[in-house]
Amino acid sequence: MSTSVSSSPGRPLHFAAFVQNTPGHVVHGTWRRLTGRQADANDLRLWVELARTLERGTFDAIFFADIIGLYNAHKGGTRKFIQSGVGIPANDPAALVSALAYATEHLGIAYTSSILQEHPFSFARRISTLDHLTQGRVAWNIVTNTLSNAARNFGYDDLTEHDERYRWADEYVDVVYKLWEGSWEDDALVIDRENGVFNDPDKVHRINHEGPRYRVEGPHLVSPSPQRSPFLFQAGASPAGRDFAARNAEAVFLTSANVETIAEDAADFRRRAAAYGRDGSDIKLFQGLQFVVASTDEEARRKAAEIDEWIDGEAQLAQMGGVAGVDFGDFELDSPIGEVKAEGMQSIIDWVNAGTKGREATVGDLGRFPRDRKPPGRVARDHRRSARPMARRGRGRHPRDEQRDPGHLQRLRGLSHPRAARARAGPEGVRAGNVAAEAVRSRPPAGDPSGRRIPRRLRRGPGRRLTSTAEQKRRTRHVHT
Ligand SMILES: Cc1cc2nc3c(=O)[nH]c(=O)nc-3n(C[C@H](O)[C@H](O)[C@H](O)COP(=O)(O)O)c2cc1C
Repeated sequence: MSTSVSSSPGRPLHFAAFVQNTPGHVVHGTWRRLTGRQADANDLRLWVELARTLERGTFDAIFFADIIGLYNAHKGGTRKFIQSGVGIPANDPAALVSALAYATEHLGIAYTSSILQEHPFSFARRISTLDHLTQGRVAWNIVTNTLSNAARNFGYDDLTEHDERYRWADEYVDVVYKLWEGSWEDDALVIDRENGVFNDPDKVHRINHEGPRYRVEGPHLVSPSPQRSPFLFQAGASPAGRDFAARNAEAVFLTSANVETIAEDAADFRRRAAAYGRDGSDIKLFQGLQFVVASTDEEARRKAAEIDEWIDGEAQLAQMGGVAGVDFGDFELDSPIGEVKAEGMQSIIDWVNAGTKGREATVGDLGRFPRDRKPPGRVARDHRRSARPMARRGRGRHPRDEQRDPGHLQRLRGLSHPRAARARAGPEGVRAGNVAAEAVRSRPPAGDPSGRRIPRRLRRGPGRRLTSTAEQKRRTRHVHT
């Protein structure tokens, strides 16, 4: 589970449930509990029930992590991951999105897709389709991939070098922005039954992208979806990753070890965003936290202790090393992790180092994290906070409900995202398309000088389901360029 941190009093906390379409996500071994539901991950009903519960609890989003290969080696191989269900089986999260949207009304649905796993053209097409099907509630967690097995699954010899992965990601997002923002003008979809015109051919543009890795002609095959570009999550921790997030992300995951480092990290992300001409406060920050939920403090403590009993420390260690790209399997548990440098996810190592104040972090700290890092007395407070929205059920609407209509994620969107500018920086056809689109945008909402009917869902104004934020944002972006 994650929650955003806010430096200004009065600004609401935001909540995203951090899950994965697998029995073994971040806490391992607990699938063995008789009451555990992790082993039902193949069952759509489990996810529908969870999504509905989160919506009742006024969560902003359900967020699906994902991996596209086995974690990097533990004890020289991958047996431990397979045997203990650490990230395997792992189902495709995108397959759940439309079903969860159908089962809920407002919940944001975020899923992870790596630049490695899919060509940007087909990825852009799929997520635009999902944006239509969810009525603008889908979000993308942009990841570059830290697993060598994943690289080999997609035909590469090994992981691409760390900073090069981010250059790759830059081109990937360039392509998808061009498809989402620059290919179709707002009124290109005509659906004129009388004259037999479905799309206006002068308003659907090729993008003609040519870069080091991709050549994409276009046009985008999907008509403009409610958000056009989906809401964007990212979790860069390195300088290259943070810069990438500062340029592109609307929400960022932090794995800060304590309150002081959260404040430093938040300030750093906001500074970097400002350096790219964005308003730093437009980036929402989600800090990873774990909660144990029960009806009373005592019950929560008992439950936490019971859960701890089931945690498979070696599986935890295997996953931490597997993500970081360091095989800790043969280390003594009391070996210091000190200055370990990881080609995979360095932030895991830094996080554990920062979390053991007053003593040196050891390999054992990585493996036993869920049990040892929980400060005494926190369980009950965490419990009260996360249980509060549920406790209000039946007592009318919670004030936060108002802030979250119609789509929770839209409330998190800022106005300074530069994606349209990037799309317009593309080839001639895209520039022309956007100039024409601007002329269309300046028309009055439902008026049509030619007397032609404008499809209802392309009209601006109060009748449109999407919040005005996205529309305002598009206009603002245009003014900036
Ligand atoms: C909360 C959180 C969730 C993440 N989820 C995923 C994920 O689902 N799939 C993935 O491949 N990487 C995931 N990552 C890894 C990040 O995308 C990124 O590779 C990592 O934080 C290292 O960043 P860096 O390369 O800039 O150091 C996640 C990271 C964090 C902190």
